[in-house]
Amino acid sequence: MHIVFLTGAGMSAESGLSTFRDSGGLWEGYDPQKVASIEGWYSDRAMVQEFYNKRRSELAKAEPNQGHKLIAGLEAYFKVTVITQNVDNLHEKAGSTNVIHLHGELTKACNEAKTEVLEIGTRPIFLGEKAADGSDLRPFIVWFGEAVPLIEKAVEIISEADMIVIVGTSMQVYPAAGLIHYRKKDVPTFLIDPNDVVVPDYVQVIKEKASAGMSILINKIR
Ligand code: OAD
Repeated sequence: MHIVFLTGAGMSAESGLSTFRDSGGLWEGYDPQKVASIEGWYSDRAMVQEFYNKRRSELAKAEPNQGHKLIAGLEAYFKVTVITQNVDNLHEKAGSTNVIHLHGELTKACNEAKTEVLEIGTRPIFLGEKAADGSDLRPFIVWFGEAVPLIEKAVEIISEADMIVIVGTSMQVYPAAGLIHYRKKDVPTFLIDPNDVVVPDYVQVIKEKASAGMSILINKIR
């Protein structure tokens, strides 16, 4: 059985990382068009670098939670793929070996053409720091207004899944939110989220935080 997880910011909430759209979430303090869009980068690089430098320094202190660990543990029994909108590395730190980051990775930087990618861990990118091709080094993040290069691979994976589990995403950002439409008919599909999320009728909702919800899901699988 191939279980595919679709995860979002709520997955890492119990690890102390803020979500975007909850009350007190990141988009209350920042304008996504200014810090998470390609236009934002062209108009104020200092603000964009500062936003992602802060995200990296928070990530340095974060550890995977029980939800991440339970997902990783399923690899002992099933083929598991995690398709995440998260840019943190907590799935990998928990032991997941098959993770697709749709929206990029905080621990990587790239040139402006996104053709050279380098590991930077959780260190800051300095304003004006250059990539090998002379362009500004930037966060390796998929911003609003940019293509999502891994979406086709994600569609292929979802269309082969035998079970789909959505965890901690408000399902408001496309194309990620549209992925479930590519599922095989009648594939068991679950949503783990403590709040209401608009999903199709066939989705079975487990209204819990990621850790508690994953324990319930594992009992169901057993
Ligand atoms: P959102 O902030 O939109 O949604 C977070 C979801 O997590 C909500 O449905 C919450 O109810 C839920 N949640 C909160 N705490 C939780 C917990 N402890 N356990 C489980 N779920 C919990 O985040 P995303 O859907 O991930 O993109 O946002 C998608 C994209 O929008 C992000 O990747 C980011 C953002 O703009 C870019 O920046 C390009």
